Amino acid sequence: MKKHIKSNVFWVGKVDWELETFHGEELTTHHGSTYNSYLIQEEKTVLIDTVWKPFASEFVNNLASEIDLKQIDYIVANHGEIDHSGALPELMRLIPDTPIYCTANAVKSLKGMYHEDWNFNVVKTGDKLDIGNGKELVFVEMPMLHWPDSMAAYLTGDNILFSNDAFGQHYATEMLYNDLVDQCDLFQEAMKYYANILTPFSAVLKRKLQEIASLGLPIEIIATSHGVIWRDNPLQIVEKYAEWADNYQENQITIVYDTMWNGTRTLAENIARGIQLADPEVTVKVFNLPKSDQNDVITEVFKSKTVVVGSPTINNGILHTVAGFAHLMKEMKFKNKKAAAFGCYGWSGESVKILNQLLQDAGFELIDEGYRTQWNPDQDKQQEAVEFGKKIAQG
Ligand code: FEO
Repeated sequence: MKKHIKSNVFWVGKVDWELETFHGEELTTHHGSTYNSYLIQEEKTVLIDTVWKPFASEFVNNLASEIDLKQIDYIVANHGEIDHSGALPELMRLIPDTPIYCTANAVKSLKGMYHEDWNFNVVKTGDKLDIGNGKELVFVEMPMLHWPDSMAAYLTGDNILFSNDAFGQHYATEMLYNDLVDQCDLFQEAMKYYANILTPFSAVLKRKLQEIASLGLPIEIIATSHGVIWRDNPLQIVEKYAEWADNYQENQITIVYDTMWNGTRTLAENIARGIQLADPEVTVKVFNLPKSDQNDVITEVFKSKTVVVGSPTINNGILHTVAGFAHLMKEMKFKNKKAAAFGCYGWSGESVKILNQLLQDAGFELIDEGYRTQWNPDQDKQQEAVEFGKKIAQG
């Protein structure tokens, strides 16, 4: 149902309490999500974005219970991904001639998704749409944040930035606003969203934040397309993004591993002990990958200055969980992080060499040639692992 935000601006989205994963099975969403759509009812009626496809009928029916759909003068499609455009086909069947304002790349993505030749109106950064009562929507292209088609729209007069995915979180809430929810959950989800979706585009984001700041637009509300609307000190999330985009790290070392007969686990725990002994100030976290949520672990790597990766040798290779996670870390294009590898082996013993190569390929700086030991680590080998941990702590 429609919820009032400010003046003649309303939320008309969908809260998805049950969402467990996003992008197929690629991203976990422990707190569900929301698909925020907005209705502006000035002299002109404008719909900004829609909702994910499974909720298309619910969305269109709800909207039709609030307004005569034929009153919609303009649709703004900030992004073509189906979590925001998924209700367009059903809506456009009812109002087929309504102009859709979007970037040139969004025409491509929307046509590519739905194979419809709707009434597209291409906009670029700085283009304006007069919606009456002295108000305008100003468009800002946001290429690669996180798709080539992404853009934001700014409503003058009410000073609302409709930022689409940027500044969002997969966080289901009926409370609508940032000041009404658990702050710990909110920032955890905001960071997880950034770490897993936006990290590869940090350099682009940094430039875009500077560009938006240079426009000098007063921002009273940031209305994202996922999670809460930032109304209480909305620039706090912009400041967080500036921090996160700048090769973010905390004083943390994260150990990730998989194990077959607990030998590599024993090494992981002794390496953690060594790190802690050498530097009691550093936060050390240890994750057995198949027993952990990969996106939560990526968030921990995002926070880390160093990651230590372990796998035993199997079939002249490494365990597939570790290989998959190394691939995921490479996709994130982390910068300014160090790494080291470790693992047990029975006979051939290639795992550390393979991990070293994967870590270098993923952009990490190796701080040691790695530590490997044959068979199950005895007391001496466990002590060696502690010493290896001390070396890691010293960077
Ligand atoms: Fe929330 Fe990129 O879609």
